[in-house]
Amino acid sequence: MTLENRYNHWSSRGVVALHPFEPKDLPWFNEVRNHPDTAGYLHDSRVYSLEETKDWFEREKPLYWWVEYTRKPIGYIRTSNVNYEDGSITVGLDIDPKFRGSGLAFKVYEELFDFLRSRLFTRVNLEVLQSNERALHIYRKLGFVETGSTPHNGDVSIAMTLELPKLKAVKVIPVYFGDRRSWPKYQSDSHHVHGLLEYVIAKEKEIDPGIDCDTVFVINCRSDTDTVTEKDWASKCYELVKGLDGTNTKRGVIKVVERENKGVSFASYDHAFHEFRDLYDVWFFCEDDQVIVADNVISAALPALRNLAEPCGFVATVGLASTPKPHAHGGCGITTRGVLDEVLKEAQNVSFKKEQHASISWFHRHGRAHDFPKATSPFDYLGRPHLPCYFPSEGTGLGCGNKEIEILGEVSFTWCISYAGFSLTNHLLEKINVNWKNAGHDSQVPGLWFGVLRNCHGEAVRMVPYTEDMDTAMP
Ligand SMILES: CC(C)(COP(=O)(O)OP(=O)(O)OC[C@H]1O[C@@H](n2cnc3c(N)ncnc32)[C@H](O)[C@@H]1OP(=O)(O)O)[C@@H](O)C(=O)NCCC(=O)NCCS
Repeated sequence: MTLENRYNHWSSRGVVALHPFEPKDLPWFNEVRNHPDTAGYLHDSRVYSLEETKDWFEREKPLYWWVEYTRKPIGYIRTSNVNYEDGSITVGLDIDPKFRGSGLAFKVYEELFDFLRSRLFTRVNLEVLQSNERALHIYRKLGFVETGSTPHNGDVSIAMTLELPKLKAVKVIPVYFGDRRSWPKYQSDSHHVHGLLEYVIAKEKEIDPGIDCDTVFVINCRSDTDTVTEKDWASKCYELVKGLDGTNTKRGVIKVVERENKGVSFASYDHAFHEFRDLYDVWFFCEDDQVIVADNVISAALPALRNLAEPCGFVATVGLASTPKPHAHGGCGITTRGVLDEVLKEAQNVSFKKEQHASISWFHRHGRAHDFPKATSPFDYLGRPHLPCYFPSEGTGLGCGNKEIEILGEVSFTWCISYAGFSLTNHLLEKINVNWKNAGHDSQVPGLWFGVLRNCHGEAVRMVPYTEDMDTAMP
């Protein structure tokens, strides 16, 4: 999918759609821009030839969007001073004189605010000439407030700002209280899981993610046939996590939900997204054995997720892998509600045809994750569209070639973000993560991978090596 299509698709809510400028749009733009009823209200009221406009477009590569309304171009949005660090942007809107005076400016601005908010911008700035009473009226009505003024060619330029609602994030941590599937043998028992959970909880309370952030623990309830070597410890794990509901963390509160263990961690991510979608702008999915131990992990990811020129859909906190398809290891990382809404649509379009049902039958699992009854899809089970989890890709075009990780969802969960037209990127910060599985916190046990950090998906860059405070969490 091209960048252009991405924006077209992404911003087509309601009747208004925003499309990034392409060279073919310039003659129309020049006509509207040069019209005396437009240029006369702008800070730069000069008239430009088409050649000059083409040169400017080529040179500056401006982020302008033309606005579609009932299938026609009715105006364009100008942006400048785009600040990805603090989430502020300067905007302007000019409407084709043919379409003025019927309330479209309000509709377009509302669409623009939704779009900017979904890209995690929180402050919209603009400059308007004092003589432009119509525009001033609109901005005041939209809630912009004046922040300053400067003389401008015999007029006064007024600076105005609108604060969009503060961003709210959530970190989703799936947990399971039984023997762990892919952990080293000696670490998979429940007393080790209890130690892990104490460590996770301590860090959740201590670490500042950099913006307001709640934590949702999704308990994947085990089935009667799951292996549990240490049943008492498994019960203690359950009580420990259940008891956290309502506990305060550094920048939010802990919530605990339970679900049947179908579709492993990636279905838990989907579960939390469906239960809490409307509450959170930023979504951090994190396996429980990839413990974040550094501050600002969410705030540091925001600039990448705001990128308007090259939309980024996922900031990986463990690491990225390029094979068999680009994906984030463990589906661990930070994304947005806007991106997940898009993925949901894409995944729905490619979801579960006959071939996939056949694949599920073939893959019906034993002893690891029980997943869905033979030939049943998560869609059948959940009765609704879902983020990619337990997602065999036969016939979808999403096939990654490794059936095992496909069916568990590790590849498809973030590969679908890439498929939907967003890039995946590695987290900027180093040394943010402890990989519990490989930290080697029990040196008494022979054969354990003591202190070894893996290096298969680049995650060692972000891994903090084993430290003694991990031992203090052990029972
Ligand atoms: C400014 C502009 C985008 C507004 O678009 P529009 O389609 O004309 O605006 P709308 O019909 O949505 O709204 C016009 C509002 O201004 C009000 N208005 C019109 N003339 C006005 C005036 N002289 N003084 C005060 N308010 C006025 C209308 O009553 C209406 O408000 P209401 O809905 O509260 O009654 C458009 O007129 C335009 O492109 N102008 C030229 C370029 C420009 O000024 N760009 C902005 C530079 S900062």
